[in-house]
Amino acid sequence: MRKKKAIIFGVTGQDGYYLTELLLKKNYLVHGVKRRSSSVPTLRINKFLENNNFRVHYGDLSDAQSVDNLIKLIKPDEIYNLAAQSHVGVSFFVPEYTSNVNALGTLRILESIRVNNKKIKFYQAGTSEMFGKTKDKFQSEKTNFNPQSPYGAAKLFAHIVTQNYRDAYGIFASNGILFNHESPIRGENFVTKKIVSGLCKIKLGLQKDLILGNLYAKRDWGHAKDYVEAIHKIVNYKFADDFVISTKKQYTIKDFAEKVCKKIDLKIKWKGKGLNEKAFDVKNRCIIRCNKIYFRPLEVDHLKGDYKKANKLLKWKPKYNLDSLIDEMITEEFKLIKK
Ligand code: NAP
Ligand code: GDD
Repeated sequence: MRKKKAIIFGVTGQDGYYLTELLLKKNYLVHGVKRRSSSVPTLRINKFLENNNFRVHYGDLSDAQSVDNLIKLIKPDEIYNLAAQSHVGVSFFVPEYTSNVNALGTLRILESIRVNNKKIKFYQAGTSEMFGKTKDKFQSEKTNFNPQSPYGAAKLFAHIVTQNYRDAYGIFASNGILFNHESPIRGENFVTKKIVSGLCKIKLGLQKDLILGNLYAKRDWGHAKDYVEAIHKIVNYKFADDFVISTKKQYTIKDFAEKVCKKIDLKIKWKGKGLNEKAFDVKNRCIIRCNKIYFRPLEVDHLKGDYKKANKLLKWKPKYNLDSLIDEMITEEFKLIKK
């Protein structure tokens, strides 16, 4: 039987790694797209390079011709758009670039699909950041969008234009609305990885302290490995549609840091309030403190997703919970530090 061909834009990222692993297991021919500048992050995909079913191509979502050339050359069955300037905080500093890649980049892929082959199935990596400031206790596919950052706004354009191409041209174009998902290979400047990495190094005496921003934002954190399974199910569902993928649980950044401390046996005591809130160890050394440079001009205070629709139609639910996710992140972090 002919192998299915998939293009992954954003193959060098966290989700690109786990999705490549999943699709290769499912006997796909995987074509990953990386940028000229993807030098360090390609470390993630090094393990696939000798697999005959994996190819890497240069491309960039800010370059329409490169996107179109790849789609013409590879003639994929499925395209997964995971590529993005994915840091919410950074999007306030590079709003135009973020919009070019995250919003127009998606449009560039869709236009190429429309012109070259409308049968190609398309997945757009949407985000809970599109909900932004919301009063809904749980966010679902029915919740209104109200993004609070250039990142969220650009992703909302991508979400809507994906729906437009589905409705206007009958393209199988689906949106995932994924809540935060993490793993041991999460980018260093996202809060979970920063906390695990910082506290493990503090525990080993390799780092003095950990400096964070807003400790009271609430997030719904899952494991990337679970979430790429949902992505594959979305693309292989009988209709193109939009799906929330989440865990239905919510914790603050402070909860997350406390859980990590407990698991690595780092006893802490909090003192102070606001920017002066600090955590001290048993020797009264300050090991966690806050700095306003890590606060954003606008914050998304709380996110908690209801994945009922995905559960019912895709038969998907998360296997990991926050404890098993943190356990794995800690174990891998200590291995990495020892290396
Ligand atoms: P990530 O680790 O930051 O990976 C982003 C990927 O996009 C990297 O491979 C990066 O390549 C690539 N990229 C950036 N700019 C590009 C451009 N101009 N052209 C082509 N590729 C480009 O992000 P992730 O956590 O895997 O997330 C995957 C996708 O899901 C992103 O679109 C993100 O916005 C979205 N999302 C993530 C979460 C989450 O919690 N992880 C939740 C909801 C939605 P380089 O290696 O060259 O930088
Ligand atoms: N990055 C970071 N660094 N965030 C911090 C810090 C810090 O030192 N201190 C506190 N925070 C807070 C942020 O203000 C935010 O409220 C929360 O921790 C989570 O921040 P991130 O881990 O950077 O993730 P995010 O929620 O902004 O965005 C991630 O999830 C989105 C889905 O909701 C990214 O993966 C996005 O690409 C994704 O769309």
